[in-house]
Amino acid sequence: QARLRKELAANRVDLVPVIGSTNVHWMSLLDELKNGDICVAECQTEGRGRRGRPWVSPFGGQLIMSMYWQLEQGMSVAMGLSLAVGIAVVEALEAQGFAGVELKWPNDVYLNGRKLAGILVELSGTAGGPCQLVIGIGLNLVLPNTEQARIDQPWAELTELGPVDDRNALVVALSQQLQRSLAVFEQEGIAAFSQQWNRLDYFNGKPVRILMGEQVVLGIARGIDSQGALLLELESGKIKRFLGGEISLRAE
Ligand code: ATP
Ligand code: BTN
Repeated sequence: QARLRKELAANRVDLVPVIGSTNVHWMSLLDELKNGDICVAECQTEGRGRRGRPWVSPFGGQLIMSMYWQLEQGMSVAMGLSLAVGIAVVEALEAQGFAGVELKWPNDVYLNGRKLAGILVELSGTAGGPCQLVIGIGLNLVLPNTEQARIDQPWAELTELGPVDDRNALVVALSQQLQRSLAVFEQEGIAAFSQQWNRLDYFNGKPVRILMGEQVVLGIARGIDSQGALLLELESGKIKRFLGGEISLRAE
């Protein structure tokens, strides 16, 4: 049989053994890429999360990929997009037989209350015009002990749900689901995903702390609104909304 040829795929697929960051690489190629093109790596030496925080990305222990997408609507809606991406990750895992994965607003994928995967959406564009996005996903499969020691919050691995036999199938499921979800997002916005979000939201109904720089707000998480903003029920019963930016959500 002939060797599989990635040139036959409808999308460009770069497979790299070692790279600084797949997001940085794809951001440097924006004008050469088209929707759905992916870069997949075995290992990152400078994997990154939000606000420059490190993302531990050991050899073979993770599914590491970045996808290019051009969003006609521009930056104003990009915030809600990371929620749609999280839902797509969970749906792809469910389709591969991994059930029980949940989401933490705005960009984390959770398993058993610990971080299983992270999503980093980076964008380039001017206000008002279309924007170019790189959607990065790092998903723990099974991490070596030495790498676990470098992670400063509770983490999870997909193998907790069963053996991961076929990483290729996971990459394919993930990129197909992402493409489907991004197309729906472009047509209908995050509102089309609110039911799915509320099904998968780990913190829904739980007491939480919202951190905004030095400021801390306490309340009960009440899902998202039609723009993807996090809803927090304050002690007074009033609902306060938080939309993206430099906001972190924590268990109380
Ligand atoms: P936030 O709620 O603000 O997004 P966060 O702590 O999840 O908070 P991120 O910037 O989203 O922060 O993610 C980066 C963080 O993820 C790192 O600071 C580290 O705690 C954690 N982390 C790094 N590598 C891994 C990994 N392989 N698996 C799980 N967690 C990791
Ligand atoms: C986070 O939780 O803050 C997001 C982590 C995102 C990690 C992925 S791995 C692929 C892509 N390349 C990076 O450097 N980061 C993202």
